[in-house]
Amino acid sequence: MFLKYLELKNFRNYSNVNLDLNSGLILFLGNNGAGKTNLLESVFYLSNGKSHRLSTQNDLINWKSDYCIIRGIIESGGEDKLIEIQLNNDGSLKIKLNKVFIKNKSGFTSDLATVIFSPDDLRIIKSSPFYRRNFLDDILEKTDRNFLSLRLKYQRILNQRNSLLKSISGFNISSSNNTIEVWNEKLVEMGSLIINKRLNLLNLIKTKFIKYMNYFFESRKADVRYIFSWDRFEPNGNFTNGNLENDTNISDNQPARKKDFEYNASSHFVLSDLNDNAVFIETDTISKKSGAYFVSDKDCLNNYSLNNILLGKVFEEKLNFYFKKDVAIKTTTVGPHRDDLVITLGDDCDIRNFGSQGQQRIAAICLKLAELDLLAENINEKPMLLLDDVLSELDLERKHLLLQLIGNNYQTFITAANFDYLKDIDLKYCEKYLVKDNEIKRY
Ligand SMILES: Nc1ncnc2c1ncn2[C@@H]1O[C@H](COP(=O)(O)OP(=O)(O)OP(=O)(O)O)[C@@H](O)[C@H]1O
Ligand SMILES: [Mg+2]
Repeated sequence: MFLKYLELKNFRNYSNVNLDLNSGLILFLGNNGAGKTNLLESVFYLSNGKSHRLSTQNDLINWKSDYCIIRGIIESGGEDKLIEIQLNNDGSLKIKLNKVFIKNKSGFTSDLATVIFSPDDLRIIKSSPFYRRNFLDDILEKTDRNFLSLRLKYQRILNQRNSLLKSISGFNISSSNNTIEVWNEKLVEMGSLIINKRLNLLNLIKTKFIKYMNYFFESRKADVRYIFSWDRFEPNGNFTNGNLENDTNISDNQPARKKDFEYNASSHFVLSDLNDNAVFIETDTISKKSGAYFVSDKDCLNNYSLNNILLGKVFEEKLNFYFKKDVAIKTTTVGPHRDDLVITLGDDCDIRNFGSQGQQRIAAICLKLAELDLLAENINEKPMLLLDDVLSELDLERKHLLLQLIGNNYQTFITAANFDYLKDIDLKYCEKYLVKDNEIKRY
């Protein structure tokens, strides 16, 4: 994919922008607040049909106007696609693809893809499990037609189960069993599907992520593993990540190492990520070592796709096991809505707690590069890459490596506020623009 032309009318701080683009590497330079991220946002909108920021449609329209237009020509699949989007401040929008009106955004987004890395994406590494789950779920929404409705259905059932939990007290706990079982069954059905899809995706992402991390940190092996909500409990019943009520704001203080995720002996089934090939195995087939169950190599199936029935059984068992706890704190403590990922670098250290700022930033970039490769396979085209303020905090070696890597591979847009970040970098083949006074000029 190659963006040849970009035109903006009344988009954010720009009243009128026209850019003919010819290069694979495009640099937007400008002071803080100049409008660099806004530009990337418009490029992102052209292939995703939405902003990468938590913005409403009206936020994108210039404050002095009641509509905005994003127009672009993207070369994709050997042909030029002229995409024209008009957003109105009454919430309506009009879209044209090659001058013909189309009804839905999916009419132009389905065979286009753009991946953005913005400073906010550091939250995937540094912040609560919510952002790591979202990283997977957002990709699934792009690559799996059924995922969004599955996600919504699960959320609805979860809300209903939580409402029921709120109505249960110590007095009516046993009479509520039948009703809770109905919700458990539905939650297990949808939840197991979600987990399965996430694990299959992670299996695909993982090799790509490790490949990129190896590229940046030659001697230190990286890994990314899926952590089930029920494996996040400590032996004392507390959640390893602290407050359950609000998973989105959890500040994890606990260093996570492999041993934290080994399943304990009380389980009927084991799911261990200790081995890349690990899957669900009944306890009969596993050996016991020093209080924890380990999956032996010969028992491992060769992929991550779990047997939905076995997964469902464990999920159901965990719902029953934690039912009293759920009633006490009036929320559902286990399920895919509480799962997490752990990302390690070298000596099995959780990069979230032990990684340097630069390592964390590179890890977030590598996750995005892995996503980029995956989407490229999915649409059989090379997506565009948007790197917002990515060069700060990277040492010179890593900056070189990054620029070498993206090279001519993907059309890439980079923003930088500080010209010093570009020092010592060979930018001969790149198109440079200065963003200033709500205008964009060739530099
Ligand atoms: N709807 C809008 N209408 C007019 N101006 C807007 C609108 N939305 C945002 N802005 C302006 O856009 C500017 C922010 O732009 P942007 O976030 O792209 O800056 P930036 O160049 O990326 O800065 P930084 O280097 O700090 O990241 C702000 O000054 C804000 O006032
Ligand atoms: Mg910015």
